[in-house]
Formats: sequence, structure tokens, C-alpha cells
Amino acid sequence: MQDSHRAGRNMLHSLMMIWAFVLLSCVTATKVCPRPQEIQGALYKPEKLVYEPSNFVVYSCLPGFVRQGGYNRAVCSSAGIWIHASLSCARRQCSLSDTLENGDITYENNKFQNVVRFSCKEGFVLIGANSSTCNESGKWNESLPTCQSMTCPQPPVPAFGQLSYYRPDERNVSKYQDMVKYECHSNYAMFGNDTATCTASGNWSQAPECRDVTCDRPPEIQNGFMSVLLHQRYHYKETVTYGCKPNYVLDGPRVSFCNLTGEWTIRPKCRAPCKVNIKKATVLYNGRKTKVDDIAHGMIQHGDTLTYYCKDSKEKCSHLTDSQCQDGVFAVPSCYKEPKWLWSKEPSNLPVCSEAS
Ligand SMILES: *[C@@H]1O[C@H](CO)[C@@H](O)[C@H](O)[C@H]1NC(C)=O
Ligand SMILES: *[C@@H]1O[C@H](CO)[C@@H](O)[C@H](O)[C@H]1NC(C)=O
Ligand SMILES: *[C@@H]1O[C@H](CO)[C@@H](O)[C@H](O)[C@H]1NC(C)=O
Ligand SMILES: *[C@@H]1O[C@H](CO)[C@@H](O)[C@H](O)[C@H]1NC(C)=O
Ligand SMILES: *[C@@H]1O[C@H](CO)[C@@H](O)[C@H](O)[C@H]1NC(C)=O
Ligand SMILES: *[C@@H]1O[C@H](CO)[C@@H](O)[C@H](O)[C@H]1NC(C)=O
Ligand SMILES: *[C@@H]1O[C@H](CO)[C@@H](O)[C@H](O)[C@H]1NC(C)=O
Repeated sequence: MQDSHRAGRNMLHSLMMIWAFVLLSCVTATKVCPRPQEIQGALYKPEKLVYEPSNFVVYSCLPGFVRQGGYNRAVCSSAGIWIHASLSCARRQCSLSDTLENGDITYENNKFQNVVRFSCKEGFVLIGANSSTCNESGKWNESLPTCQSMTCPQPPVPAFGQLSYYRPDERNVSKYQDMVKYECHSNYAMFGNDTATCTASGNWSQAPECRDVTCDRPPEIQNGFMSVLLHQRYHYKETVTYGCKPNYVLDGPRVSFCNLTGEWTIRPKCRAPCKVNIKKATVLYNGRKTKVDDIAHGMIQHGDTLTYYCKDSKEKCSHLTDSQCQDGVFAVPSCYKEPKWLWSKEPSNLPVCSEAS
């Protein structure tokens, strides 16, 4: 009897336990929390499939992020809602004070995982990394590179020429944009630019050429001569000097050069003097009133001017009219009339007509 009673009690107990379990299961099934919310730059612990009321998770910032305030614990409430999860994590920042000499640093921002890019100006070469990443310690993971000037080896020297200016550094190299100057041996002519520049590609711009330029015998000129003993060939820059026979006038420069194209720069002319026609007259010559008869040998030189007095039709005054000797050609002005009689009044003795009349 006692045994059956006990068995009955046990059975009841078991039934109650099952009931309680079922009841509890039903209640908890409606109250578990979903996965906790994600917070950018943070993770939570512990990670479980199911969180029951009063369970909690603790958030912490991921590497590369720093806590910026907020509450880091979240609790699963009996209503199945997480409460209190307000942590905020911000990306770490790397410092940006550096500048790259002879180069540029470009970046979007200076935060964790961002990349800065390094580049050098034209003519400079990047030594080191071309980019750097802001790492989780808030440091750029690569050190700052340098921009080194492009260098040029010793410049080429043209045949028959030499360098007149060249200043390499102690390692015998030149830097980007350094210049050298060339000259040609004497009598050699330069073709091209006398300076060359160290380029961004590390070579020199085109060097000039030195060529042996010669000229033939300079041309003879009529009524003139050359001041030197003539030889068959002349070199670049050699000169001859021209002169003219007495009374002839050299038209142009006296000195001719053998030039770059192997030609003489000039071929001057000797201009002939003029015979002054016998007509009796008093004229202005070299600023003086002179009788034509008194001009030496009746000759004037090329370019000389005689000013004649032409009688005005009313015969009360005279006009001044020039006539110039042009390479042997000289003409008395048509307005000039020779006095018919010895006692006729010379036009040069008349007053000069005023410009207005
Ligand atoms: C940076 O360097 C890497 C490897 O050194 C190279 O593949 C890449 O093209 C470079 N980037 C630039 C912009 O020069
Ligand atoms: C970040 O970069 C710096 C500089 O290169 C280095 O010393 C440090 O160890 C790096 N931090 C990590 C976490 O990689
Ligand atoms: C820096 O970070 C970049 C990108 O993660 C990586 O490719 C590079 O190897 C790193 N450099 C160093 C020195 O760790
Ligand atoms: C530089 O070049 C000159 C001429 O070619 C040579 O005599 C000299 O030894 C060189 N110096 C160095 C440091 O290479
Ligand atoms: C020679 O080259 C220099 C530099 O390249 C330039 O400035 C100059 O004008 C050039 N001279 C001539 C005559 O072409
Ligand atoms: C210099 O080098 C560049 C690139 O290699 C080439 O294009 C150029 O023709 C070179 N210049 C001279 C004067 O050799
Ligand atoms: C050389 O002189 C000739 C004759 O005056 C001229 O035609 C030529 O252009 C000159 N050449 C040069 C390079 O000056």
C-alpha cells in the first residue's frame, strides 16, 4: 500500500516535471533574443545560437578602430529584445603631416585601411614604396619614399668639338635639367644647339655637330681688290676685306666671312665716280657754294650730291634742286639753265624762293 502510494507520488512528480518543462519551453520559445545587432567596427562575445533573457553580450572595437563612447553591454530582456547596445567605434587615423620633396602624396582620407599614393615630379625617380596603408596601429605601414633626381651619364662629345661647360657631381653624373655647353674646334662650324640638357629620361638632348666647312675663293669685284693673298680654300669664319680703286666707293661692308653654308657673306660693289658735265654753274657741294669748274678733276664720287640753283620762271628767285652721282651716272637737273651771256645774272645770286611759292 505504501509502495503503491509512493509509486503514485513519483508518477505525479514526473508528470508535474514534464508539465513544467513543456510550460517552460513554451514560455522561453517566445522570449529568446535574436542575434545581437551588428555595430560597425565592433564584435560581441559570446557568440551563441540562442540568447535567453538575462543573457548578455559584450561588444569591443575591432583592431583598427577606437572606442568613441557608448555602452558596450547588451542584455537580452524578458521581452526578447536587446537593450543597451550603443557602443560606437571609429576608424583610427594616421598622421598626415608629411610632404614629399619633389613629389606628391595623394589620398582620400587618413583613416584605417586607406591608402596614400606617392608619385614623383617629372625628372625624379621614386625610391621606396609607391603607396602606404594606414594600419590598425594608426601608422602608415610603409616609410616615406624619396624622389631622387634622374641622372645622366657623361654627355656625348661630337667629333671636332668639345665641352666648354660641364659640371657633373662627385659621382661624375649630372642631374635632371643640368646643362652642358659645346664648342667646335677652331674653323669647324656648329650645326645644332650649343647646349644640351639632361632630360627626364636620363639621357642628353641632342648634341650639336661640328663640321669642316670650307668656302671657295672669294669672288673678285670690278674696280676693287681684296686685302689678303688669295688661297684656294677658306675655312669657316675666315675673312677677306675688300677695297676699291681710287675714287670708287665701296657699297656695303668691307669684310666678308666664310659662313656656315660655305658661302661668302657679301659681294660688295665698287661704285664709279661721276664726271660733272661741263655746264658752267655755281652749285652747293659739301655745303659750300662752289663753281663746277673748281671741282677737282671735274669728278665727284658715288653718292655725292650737287645742289643746283634753278631760276624761277618769274626770274626773281631760285629753287634748290639736288642731283646725285649714282655709280657713274649724273645728270644736271632739267630745270637748270646755263646763263646765256657772261654778264647774265647767275641764278645762285638770286634769293632762294620761299618754300611756299
Ligand atoms: C606601384 O608599385 C607596384 C609594385 O611595385 C606596381 O605594380 C604598381 O604599378 C605601382 N603603381 C603605380 C601607380 O606606379
Ligand atoms: C603598422 O605599421 C608600423 C610601421 O610599419 C609597424 O611598426 C606596425 O607594427 C604596424 N602595425 C601592425 C599592427 O601591423
Ligand atoms: C602595407 O600594406 C599593404 C596593403 O595591405 C601591403 O601590400 C604591404 O605589403 C604592406 N607593407 C608592409 C611593409 O607591411
Ligand atoms: C670622372 O670622369 C673623369 C673623366 O672621365 C675621370 O677622370 C674621373 O676619374 C671620374 N671620376 C669618378 C669619381 O668616376
Ligand atoms: C638651345 O636649347 C635650349 C634649351 O633646350 C633652348 O632654351 C634654346 O632656345 C636653344 N637655342 C637654340 C638656338 O635653339
Ligand atoms: C632619350 O631617351 C628617350 C627614351 O628612351 C628616347 O625616346 C629619346 O630619343 C632619347 N633622346 C636622345 C637624344 O637620345
Ligand atoms: C651664308 O651667306 C649666304 C650669302 O650671303 C646666305 O645666302 C646664306 O644664308 C648664309 N648662310 C647662313 C647659314 O647664314
